Amino acid sequence: METGDGERGPRGSDTEVSVEDARRAEAAEAASQDVARHVSAVFDAGDAERERLLALFAALPVGVVLVDVRAADLPIAFANAAFSALTGYSVPAVLGLNCRFLQGPDTDPTAVATLRRALAAGAGCTVTLRNYTRAGTPFWNELTLAPLRDTAGRMVAYVGVQADATARVEAERQRALQAAVLDATAEGIYGIDHAGRCTFINPAAAALLGYTPDAVIGRDMHALVHHHRRDGTPYPPDACPIHQAAAGGQGLRVADEVVWRRDGTAVPVEYAVQPMAGVGADGAVVTLVDVTERERAERERAALLARERAARAEAEAAVAQRDHLLSLAAHDLRTPLAALIGEVQLRQRRLRRGQPLAAEEQDAFLATLYDLLQRQVSVVSEVTDAAYLQMGERLALRVESVDLGMLAGEVVDMLAHAQGAGAAAIDVEAPTGVVIVGDRDRLARVLQNIVGNAVKYSPAGTPVQVSVRAEGDGAVVVVRDAGVGIPAGEIDRVFTPFYRASTARGFAGTGLGLAGAQSIVAQHGGAIALESAPGEGTTVTITLPGAERAARES
Ligand SMILES: Cc1cc2nc3c(=O)[nH]c(=O)nc-3n(C[C@H](O)[C@H](O)[C@H](O)COP(=O)(O)O)c2cc1C
Repeated sequence: METGDGERGPRGSDTEVSVEDARRAEAAEAASQDVARHVSAVFDAGDAERERLLALFAALPVGVVLVDVRAADLPIAFANAAFSALTGYSVPAVLGLNCRFLQGPDTDPTAVATLRRALAAGAGCTVTLRNYTRAGTPFWNELTLAPLRDTAGRMVAYVGVQADATARVEAERQRALQAAVLDATAEGIYGIDHAGRCTFINPAAAALLGYTPDAVIGRDMHALVHHHRRDGTPYPPDACPIHQAAAGGQGLRVADEVVWRRDGTAVPVEYAVQPMAGVGADGAVVTLVDVTERERAERERAALLARERAARAEAEAAVAQRDHLLSLAAHDLRTPLAALIGEVQLRQRRLRRGQPLAAEEQDAFLATLYDLLQRQVSVVSEVTDAAYLQMGERLALRVESVDLGMLAGEVVDMLAHAQGAGAAAIDVEAPTGVVIVGDRDRLARVLQNIVGNAVKYSPAGTPVQVSVRAEGDGAVVVVRDAGVGIPAGEIDRVFTPFYRASTARGFAGTGLGLAGAQSIVAQHGGAIALESAPGEGTTVTITLPGAERAARES
């Protein structure tokens, strides 16, 4: 659209210049020669009153236009210098034009529709809408329209008052943007004044603390959420870094404190506090991050590390125990052999010297030989089975009918013989006829082990009781002693290969006996239970199933 003196507004385009517009521009040109003449057309008022009103409008520091309501399309009949300064158009250039020439591409159509409705109703209104200066620069126009009536109450003109609202609108938009950023940020942020009272809080901080923002504004934040330290001791406000920063101190970051939620629970947080001064809001801004998850992850990592360390220590201990076993096995294998060789050499020398052995001497010699060889076989079997089990292999059982009562008797006799006088007294209650199906040699080793332990860990003279009884078509063997016992915390571990209870120190052993016994019994479909108390003794219960269940479970 062209203005009267050839100026072009933001809506303007050559194609829009109609014959009608040209004619009106000409009319406005003529009209601009005499503003007073236009105004006369508007007012019936007397000259003096009209002049006074126009002088008042002319002097106002805001834009003022008068439009003629009796002419077609509400043409401007008067505009003041402030209007000209605001829009960049000269007054003569706009006379006779409708004010819409100030509108442009970003003018909100709903604001224009509001104006149109008010004008149609002959009412006043105020809208803030986007307008453009003559140079095409957009500005926010706070526009107030008011009908002007003559003394008889007839509407003679519309007054439009324009004020530049650009700074206000931009500031509002800026504030809204900042508020939106604060609202959208995942970190909790709140501000306090110099007295520690909350001046603002974003939704993330409010949610973290369990309050609505309204419930927090104006409250003493230290008293509300920071009153106690993590260990539950009171946190004096003077010692609080947030208070110190708000009182003009340094900004800083704190990593290991808690804030207290409304429900009384503590939330571990990391926070940064930054003093704020000279922006009309002295105090500080606090940025809070909930580190619950981070702390949990750290705790898990530490626990994992501790478990790994323990596992490594255990593995190292197992290796050490294995080395120990090797030296023990070597010792256990070599010692009887050396004794054996000594005994044989002794007899050889006597025979070479022509000194034959008496019958009872021969008998005793053979009995010693037999015992030594038995022990040898037992150690070799134990170590071989342990090696198998270490490799995760099952033992190949040689299954037959075994009379457990008889077997227990034999084992006890053998042990009593091996122990000699001064050992614990073994009391056996083992009726014959308690028969199960199993590997005789290995079951003998189990009994040797359990009864042997009972004897080994019992002071001389204290009783060891061995009882065998049938249960269903299976059997139960109970071995009870009044020996050194095993501490409660170690009972579960005594079945671990190479593990030796702390109370077993000072007694010879490989740490394989119980582990092997448990595996053998398990492979028979049975179980070993152990109850013990240090200083009171140990009871081992071996349950072995009958042939049917053994076949099912082994
Ligand atoms: C006294 C008066 C002053 C006006 N001042 C402005 C103005 O400064 N900026 C503007 O965009 N519209 C202004 N208008 C509104 C337009 O002139 C016009 O009425 C509006 O765009 C709705 O009509 P339309 O839909 O025919 O354009 C004013 C209207 C009147 C009556």
